[in-house]
Amino acid sequence: MNYEYRNIFEIPCGKSWEAGEADTPPVALEEFYPAEFVRDDFGPLCDVAEPEVVRHYTRLAAMNFGVDAGFYPLGSCTMKYNPKVNEAAAALPGFAALHPYAAAADAQGALQLMYDLERYLCEICGLEAFTLCPSAGAHGELVGMLMTRAYHRSRGDDGRNVMLIPDSAHGTNPASARMAGFDVVAVASTPQGLLDVGDLKAKLDERLAGMMITNPNTLGLFERDILEIAAAVHGAGGLLYYDGANLNAFVGRARPGDMGFDICHVNLHKTFSTPHGGGGPGSGPVGVADRLVEFLPIPRLVKEGEAYRFESNLPNSIGRIRSFAGNFGVLVRAYAYLRHLGAAGLREVADVAVLNANYLRARVARFLEVAGEALCMHEFVASTAKYGRGSAADVDKALIDAGFHPPTTYFPLVVPEALMIEPTETETRETLDAFAAALERIVADLEGDPHAYAEAPLKAPVRRLDEAGAARKPVLTQMMAQTEGE
Ligand SMILES: Cc1ncc(COP(=O)(O)O)c(C=O)c1O
Repeated sequence: MNYEYRNIFEIPCGKSWEAGEADTPPVALEEFYPAEFVRDDFGPLCDVAEPEVVRHYTRLAAMNFGVDAGFYPLGSCTMKYNPKVNEAAAALPGFAALHPYAAAADAQGALQLMYDLERYLCEICGLEAFTLCPSAGAHGELVGMLMTRAYHRSRGDDGRNVMLIPDSAHGTNPASARMAGFDVVAVASTPQGLLDVGDLKAKLDERLAGMMITNPNTLGLFERDILEIAAAVHGAGGLLYYDGANLNAFVGRARPGDMGFDICHVNLHKTFSTPHGGGGPGSGPVGVADRLVEFLPIPRLVKEGEAYRFESNLPNSIGRIRSFAGNFGVLVRAYAYLRHLGAAGLREVADVAVLNANYLRARVARFLEVAGEALCMHEFVASTAKYGRGSAADVDKALIDAGFHPPTTYFPLVVPEALMIEPTETETRETLDAFAAALERIVADLEGDPHAYAEAPLKAPVRRLDEAGAARKPVLTQMMAQTEGE
């Protein structure tokens, strides 16, 4: 048995890591895994000198494109610049080195930060209580759906199993609803890109559990019938869920709770200053109106006098949805961001996000068809459909050669050859102009030859990739690659 392996597994669960303090016998590896999976020696490791390893990763890092490297107008993803001061706050040793098993008495500062962040989010969203537990937007959606189910069951309303979702919704919405056991029914959009209230009303009946809505919707349009929609859903006995991934458009200006939403998740890694992309970590806190507080997941943070602690003895809670109480580093960044901006700063975030999007929209509308109305919120969707199938992908790759990250492409599905562009508030007018000029040049080239960019990108570290293959058959390790090549 290899000593290093044994050593790791001999740490008794939940006990002190200090030698001599364990009061349970060590656990042998064989108790966890069938004997045939336990190896006696290390597998082959590639033999590379340290400088080569350093150069390899430095080269890879230089190839990476992030918002610190250039414009990243990835619609619906809010790839805005995240101030470095928030990184510094998250890296403070008192936060970064705090062990999740630390006793509440030793972690009062961290718990206060979380408690205050919950209160700030309540104020921003107009809701009664928040949980910071969910690890991402989609995770928050699942939590919201599980609470919706718990709410109806608590009232003996077991027959409510339909979740209405607009046909323009983000794919995670139907996936989350389905995972929570609901039947998903799509609601149509109008030709103007807004929710079709007539279609919604036709689909309301006693099976309605609720409705999920993104506002502004994925076309970047404000659902101006939201009060009528909320009244209709509530009138039919359903709950209204707000997918707050697009909160950047009206943070500090308008509140989901005031629009009639009962449950809402916000993506801290979009609106509230955590760099994202590449898989996390993220955070998707969920807020609820009064009547749903009892269903929030455990642990719940409570304040007694001046002291903070976690409470898990809450019988109506949907239960625990992850380890510990959230991605703490992300919460620190969001807290620092909010304290830094204050209410006036937050309003300015929304104002400039919407202004930048409309400025860019007006420029792009000169040479590309743009979906929806003349004014957008934080993003807009252009279409390259007139240049044929696949043209949006070609435009994307040409933009890479021009030094820009491509917009979100082929989403929302209701627009053919869609380019979904979200500039965010942190970009200058010069950057927006440079992007619009590059896009215009590319479109002018397509006008002459619709296949002008079939081979793009030409200047990127890698040429056009098989993206579906990369997702479905990833080669994840060097050793695997070597084995395959042998
Ligand atoms: C509208 C919308 N809803 C939900 C999500 C899911 O958020 P996450 O990626 O954090 O799971 C996204 C993410 O892109 C989104 O744009």
